[in-house]
Amino acid sequence: MRVASRIEKLKPYLFVEINKKIAEKRAKGEEIVSFAIGDPDIPTPSRLLEKLCETAQDPANHRYPESEGLPELCQAIAKWYKQRFDVSLDPATEVLPLIGAKEGIGHIAFCFINPGDTALVPDPAYPVYSIGTQLAGGRAYYLTLRQENGFLPDLKSIRDYILKKARVLWLNYPNNPTGAVAELDFFNTVVDFAKKNDILVCHDGPYTEVAFDGYQPVSFMQAEGARDIGVEFHSLSKSYNMTGWRIGMVVGNAKAVGALRTLKSNLDSGIPQAIQYMAIEALTGPQDCISEHNSVYQRRRDLIVEVLSNIGLEVAVPKAGLYIWARVPEGYNSVDFTADLLDQVGVAVTPGVGYGRSGEGYVRLSLTIPDAALVKGLSRLSGWRNTRRLTPKR
Ligand SMILES: Cc1ncc(COP(=O)(O)O)c(C=O)c1O
Repeated sequence: MRVASRIEKLKPYLFVEINKKIAEKRAKGEEIVSFAIGDPDIPTPSRLLEKLCETAQDPANHRYPESEGLPELCQAIAKWYKQRFDVSLDPATEVLPLIGAKEGIGHIAFCFINPGDTALVPDPAYPVYSIGTQLAGGRAYYLTLRQENGFLPDLKSIRDYILKKARVLWLNYPNNPTGAVAELDFFNTVVDFAKKNDILVCHDGPYTEVAFDGYQPVSFMQAEGARDIGVEFHSLSKSYNMTGWRIGMVVGNAKAVGALRTLKSNLDSGIPQAIQYMAIEALTGPQDCISEHNSVYQRRRDLIVEVLSNIGLEVAVPKAGLYIWARVPEGYNSVDFTADLLDQVGVAVTPGVGYGRSGEGYVRLSLTIPDAALVKGLSRLSGWRNTRRLTPKR
């Protein structure tokens, strides 16, 4: 039996490796506190679970769903975009439910990348943008996100010969892993850039609802002309603590949404309908759970930032998203530092280099750690000692 080279070329998915290392330590009896994975620890709101139980009883929801989603769900998504961002969408042509944003992000490459084409992919970034590109036979051209530019890509620096081959531009704000945010003026320049170069913008925005200190992230779809040239992936995973239920959406340009709908109708049979009803309930019901969750994350953010600063790490305080992006101390790289934390104090974080070469020099800590583990993790972090600090010469 021979595995296809496209699979052989894939490296193990980042979190699989991290989980493996943590599992090995735990198997040896070590207790590890993990800040490594961005998966909300707070349960799905009970009214959504009630809707799931109620609709699961209906035999109409036991059969194959349509892969393009219930019309009521498409309408609920359009209504939510209108209420939240004042963006009007046609539910029939500009909205498509997904089996989680990750599924759509991976699959859209097959709609817009021919073998040999290029996708412009931020570095560091959520790994699926480049993995989808690679599986479709394309190449990622990496756009370095620098701290001094607020972790926004410098679109002007891309050479013409790259632009000629580029079909897709990936963006993600509020950003995983850097915690950076983008404002509307940046998205307006992205629209001009994409129109000029005939590139599809795929903005990934699953963290727009996780924000702190009263800050309200914008949607790429609010930019003037965004729907002419772009789509936005979104998700119920982080907004409503629904990572385990697998439901998200893509909205925007009808041709791009239609292409993904065609691909999906040939590959999958949709999202279980009871879960689609949960999503309708989430999007159209009271939204209090969002500010409740955000106040928990904000409290955790402040505690983590304080402890990391105390042990000598440079940390920006994120306005949104689920992550703290901290510079590793001098003398370490991100993998060394991650290993040192694991060995010295039994704390797991994610090495920045796992998100791309430009993530070197940073580690990521997630705010989705339960409070009891957080207290333990912070006390352990406070006890970490920098054994590589160079002692000044006399
Ligand atoms: C930037 C980004 N996009 C997409 C996803 C996946 O979202 P979903 O659970 O809807 O597949 C994640 C998950 O961590 C993410 O960080």
